[in-house]
This record gives sequence, C-alpha cells and structure tokens, in this order.
Amino acid sequence: MASKPFHLAWFLGNSFGVHGWKDPWGGRTALDWASPSLQIDLARAAERACMDFVFFEDSVFVPDNYGSSMDFYLKRALRAPKNDPMPLVPLVAQATRHIGIIPTISTSFYPPYLLARLMATLDLMSEGRVGCNFVTSTAARAAQNFGLDEHIDHDTRYEMADEFVEVVKKLWTSWDADAIVADEERAVFAEPGKVRTIDFEGRFFKSRGPLNTARPPQGTPVLAQAGGSPQGRAFAARHMDVVIAAVSTVQEMKAYRQDLRQRAARNGRDPDHIKVMFQVMPLFGDTDQQAREHLARHRAGQDPAKMLAAMGSLFDIDFSTFDLDAPLAELTTNGQQGTLKRFLSYGRTLREIAGNFTFGLENIAGTPESVASQLAELMEEVGGDGFVIAGPMTRRYIAEVTDGLAAVLQRRGLTRERYTHRHFRDHLMEF
Ligand SMILES: Cc1cc2nc3c(=O)[nH]c(=O)nc-3n(C[C@H](O)[C@H](O)[C@H](O)COP(=O)(O)O)c2cc1C
Repeated sequence: MASKPFHLAWFLGNSFGVHGWKDPWGGRTALDWASPSLQIDLARAAERACMDFVFFEDSVFVPDNYGSSMDFYLKRALRAPKNDPMPLVPLVAQATRHIGIIPTISTSFYPPYLLARLMATLDLMSEGRVGCNFVTSTAARAAQNFGLDEHIDHDTRYEMADEFVEVVKKLWTSWDADAIVADEERAVFAEPGKVRTIDFEGRFFKSRGPLNTARPPQGTPVLAQAGGSPQGRAFAARHMDVVIAAVSTVQEMKAYRQDLRQRAARNGRDPDHIKVMFQVMPLFGDTDQQAREHLARHRAGQDPAKMLAAMGSLFDIDFSTFDLDAPLAELTTNGQQGTLKRFLSYGRTLREIAGNFTFGLENIAGTPESVASQLAELMEEVGGDGFVIAGPMTRRYIAEVTDGLAAVLQRRGLTRERYTHRHFRDHLMEF
C-alpha cells in the first residue's frame, strides 16, 4: 500500500427505505423495497472493495413540513416508508466477514440500557464488527412520536447525548473482558468479581447495571456521529471514533477536520483517533465528457420543490410558503443547525440556494480513473481521513463504485487491498 492510504466507506442515506423509485436502474423497487436484498448486495460489494463500513442512516417520523402535509413526501416515497435499520445488522453481518456495520440510533428517544444491550449483542454476534451512529433526532414530529409535545431544545439534546454515551460506555465495561471463564471443573461460567453495577445517576439518565450480557469484543462498539454545529462537534470530539462530514469545498473539508482534531487534542485525545470521513457523490461515465454530461443532466433534472421539501424536513421549516425570489430573512431552527447555516450560505434567495446547494461533494464526475485522481488530490490537500460514498442508490451505481472506482483506488495503493484485523475499530485506526 502507498504511504498515505485513505479510508473508504458507504453512507446509505434513506437506509432501509425506498431506493431508486422512478430511476431507470432502480429495479423492482415498488415490489421489493422492504426486502433487505439491496442493502445486503451493497454490503457484499463494499466488502469486496475492502471498505471500512456500511452506514445506515435513520429517522423516526413521516415528514409533513412541505405544504404542511404528508402528501408531498408520501407520493414520492421521500423519507417514508422507511424500515428500522437494526434488523439489517445481523443479516449484513451474516452475509459478510470483515466489513464494519453502523446503524443509527436516537439518543433522545432510546433508553440507554436497551441500546447498550442491543449493540453489545450485535458486537458479540458479529465478532466485533459493529458501530453506532448517535443522532439527537431533529424533528418535532419525531419527538411527538415518543410522547413529547415539543422537541427538547437543540443544545439540551446534545447534553443528553453526551450523558447517554457516558452511560452506555459504562454499561459496556460493566463486565471485564475476561469475566467469562466457562470453567467446567470449578463449575463457574462467569467470575462474579468481574461483573459490577455501574450505579449511574446523571441529569437525564439513571441506570444501575450491570449489563446482562458480556463485554462486546471491541470493548466499545465503534462510535460515530455527523452533527456539524459547535455542540455537535464538541460531542464528537469527546467521544467519537468517526465523524461523517457533509461539506462541499476543499477549504471546508480542511477546516472541519482541523477543528475536530484540535478539539479532540484539547480533550486529551490523540487526534489520529478521530477519523473524519467526507460525504461524496461521484458520478461516472465511460469518458470524462460523458460523466460531466451525466452530472449536468442529474443536476438539471433535480426538482427544486423536492430538494426544498427534503431540506425543510431537516429544519422543520415549510419552504412552500416562501417566495422563491425574495431575499431570505435570517432563519433559525431547532433541527439541524450546522446544515441550515451551510444551506443559507448558498444564495440570497431560495431559488438561488436550491440551484446551488450541495449536501456533500457533489460535483465530482469522470471515469473511474479520473474520479480516483480527484479523490486522491482532495485527500492530499486535506490530509485525511477518507470518504463515504453517498450517491444515488441502485445496483448499477454500487457496481460503478465498487468494481470501477474502488478497484482503481486499490490498484494505486490509495485504499485498503485486504482486511488484516479482526475488529472494525482496528481497521478504522489502521491508518
Ligand atoms: C452526513 C450526515 C448524516 C446524518 N445522518 C443522520 C441520520 O441518520 N439520522 C438523523 O436523525 N440525523 C442524521 N444527521 C443529522 C445529525 O446527526 C445531527 O443531528 C444534525 O446534523 C444536527 O446537528 P447539528 O445541529 O449539530 O448540525 C446527519 C447529518 C449529516 C451531516
């Protein structure tokens, strides 16, 4: 491998929802969206490409922001229907041998004990291959599904998230790694002295412990998050092994990574132990010209209303009531603050923003060879740590990335060519 390889993984937005509906390469989505076969095919292909992990986004509400109605979203299968991604984890684990698997959970609504037990079980079942994406859940409708009339405010949600992670980490270590001796002669399965209560009592959570299953093989499953506000970054810098960053310029990439590394160092952590992976949606063609035309068609074909409906559901804002051509007043949200700040920086009016905004690195197109060069240049400039692929999900696209792009990256020694460790975290921390 070359001296400076980078990490590659897959971020599956809309997770266990409807993919490729109306896409000419979408297969029989209408019939089989609820089958796990696409996600399993994705994981197998990503493992063939020796990626670090597959990441399953999630949300727990049906949006009704745009036009103050669910209609727009339901008609287009936009964010609903969406199955719970947790049952995908053991299926993907069974269909693969090495790749890491990261489902998403909400720190605002999951009881920490249940989550700690679930992730410990999955880490034990997969022999050390799972991680967990901690989100605070941003939508008022999600909060209402869990019995709250109004959502907890943004900063308090992060304070809860912080305490949540503290509790689950304590639960995961409530059994020593060598607590299970299974000593038949002494008739001792687990050593009682190696299992302890945690007696946690914080501002938001209380848990006695110990966990009623053993310590996960990784000790702590891989911890991941994606929030970009100052509170989100502080949370990441305290706990996370990997952060998914949605930014769209090389300057933003550099600044994001530098900021997180500095914050981690201020917390006494080794900055190399927090990996920043940038969201990228490369599009491909047989020639660069063809790929650029593909990208231009893709952008021109995007429906501004769909983009505003999707973004509005992240901010709890109904953009259908706005004049597209009027200068925008300052907007605030109790939802995704980091994303709203970036969104508003893309123009003076909603029409300008809808035309220009990109969630991640969305302007990369070419042959597999030339996309590989573009990614390599970005990494050279930024210094690490890698990319998560988040392009339009079809089996054709999976093949373009894993058999096209990833094969070139591997040939050039830019990404991993084989898995050399047992556990997910060890692969993540390998370089
Ligand atoms: C790339 C990316 C992926 C995300 N994935 C999820 C997700 O799966 N589920 C979710 O509820 N929020 C998700 N979020 C939202 C973040 O976890 C976070 O809650 C949100 O960005 C608000 O945090 P902020 O105010 O710190 O920006 C994602 C955000 C980004 C940028």
